[in-house]
Amino acid sequence: MNNDTTPQLPLRATDEPVVARPRLTVIGTGYLGATHAVCMAAVGYEVLGVDVDPAKIAKLAAGEVPFFEPGLGELLRDTLATGRLRFTEDFAEAAEFGDVHFICVGTPQKKGSHAADISYVHAATQALAKNLRRKALIVGKSTVPIGTAAQLRDMVHAVAPAGTAVELAWNPEFLREGYAVADTLQPDRLVFGTESRWATEQLKAAFAPVLERGTPLVECDLSTAELVKVAANSFLATKISYINAMAEVCEVTGADVNLLSRALSYDDRIGGRFLKPGLGFGGGCLPKDIRAFAARAEELGVGQAVSFLHQVDAINSRRRTRTVDLVRELAGGSVQGVRVAALGAAFKPNSDDIRDAPALDVARMLHEEGALVQVYDPEAMDNARRAYPDLSYAGSLPEAIQGAEVVVLLTEWAQFRDADPEMMGWLVAQRKVVDGRHALDADAYRAAGWEYRALGRPVTSRTVELATAAADSIDLTARVDIATELLQQQGSVPVA
Ligand code: UDX
Repeated sequence: MNNDTTPQLPLRATDEPVVARPRLTVIGTGYLGATHAVCMAAVGYEVLGVDVDPAKIAKLAAGEVPFFEPGLGELLRDTLATGRLRFTEDFAEAAEFGDVHFICVGTPQKKGSHAADISYVHAATQALAKNLRRKALIVGKSTVPIGTAAQLRDMVHAVAPAGTAVELAWNPEFLREGYAVADTLQPDRLVFGTESRWATEQLKAAFAPVLERGTPLVECDLSTAELVKVAANSFLATKISYINAMAEVCEVTGADVNLLSRALSYDDRIGGRFLKPGLGFGGGCLPKDIRAFAARAEELGVGQAVSFLHQVDAINSRRRTRTVDLVRELAGGSVQGVRVAALGAAFKPNSDDIRDAPALDVARMLHEEGALVQVYDPEAMDNARRAYPDLSYAGSLPEAIQGAEVVVLLTEWAQFRDADPEMMGWLVAQRKVVDGRHALDADAYRAAGWEYRALGRPVTSRTVELATAAADSIDLTARVDIATELLQQQGSVPVA
């Protein structure tokens, strides 16, 4: 265990004993909560998952994950079989059961505003607190505007029958979709924002197996813990938009953004991760988090300090319109009546999440310009159909590209990357491809007679291998190994 910080504020010292093997509840069983509940049960804790959606609870209790996440389904079924993981809709039962309660509900972007909607966090915490009759720790994991934790703490003290005996801590979560199990069980770091020594020690007991693996721990105050999460996501978004801004410069100078990215990546101070140019970022976190952060900073009177985030967002949006421009150029100046195969709908591969998905935004814009768009995605079809019922959907990759006059790659699924350009060529009407994710082998496509175009690259660009980090490659075996290893370590949780 490695604690590399000294808290700036003195923590309230208490001699209250911590529960060495706390029983955990996880309130909100969406992406974050379901993964946290399953992983904590896998490492030996008794866990109760709580949600207000009976359909979600029923599915999880039956061993079915309601979203796509490699490796999570089998871990859910394994942990259900141990008897340590259960699900309920009943907050009173949760309050009775748990020593440590994790709040994992969503904080979507407010309608008509850039700010985050914290009403679900507030409602879930209140519903739990009203039933808390003994000492307990509530731990927020959701991404929230700075200052939310302090407000929640005051509310909890006011409504909980146990009053100030109930403490509140913040423990931001950094998991990435597609890597959720590995990121939860083997995170880069843990951050504990607390107000008392007891809360820190109780949290340590709730993460004992993860800390025992040598995970760095940062102990801090509530505000720092809230800020770490938005600061991390803002940095990542800025890095992606930085390379995409360079792509814009490349486009007018004849430089090649892939070569540029590779050259930058060899500088250890810069590094190659999150320096992949292309269609830019989407998903349920990065776009909304940078907007909510900028909105909160305005409220706090420090809007200027993060005003660059507006540029980060604008650069990211321009990638989408510029991709449409490239398709239009390849189509000869207009997409009206042009058959376009849109490969990908999810915001990134190995996910069925279409929230703020660049892929579907591009497909929508092409459709609105009169193109005859056929969308295909290996996992996100149901979600895409529900959100964009006006678009046409194909049942497979061959069906999507059959007769296409332009193919546009929008999400870099392995299935698309590995497709043979020659065989693809037999099906399309015209061998024209826009590689929105810099994922295709440009040389192989050109050799097969395709006109190949990518953002920020000259028309004659060659294949360039971008820097890849092992930590960013999906390796199902590795993920399952961690899970299996931890499942076998059930004795690693200290026994009370
Ligand atoms: C992100 C953060 O990485 C994670 O730490 C946090 O907890 C939640 O938000 P996630 O939304 O799952 O995770 O996606 P991520 O893998 O970070 O990718 C975000 C978007 O950026 C995707 O649309 C991806 O295609 C894009 N991206 C990523 C790039 O365009 N270039 C890159 O180099 C990396």
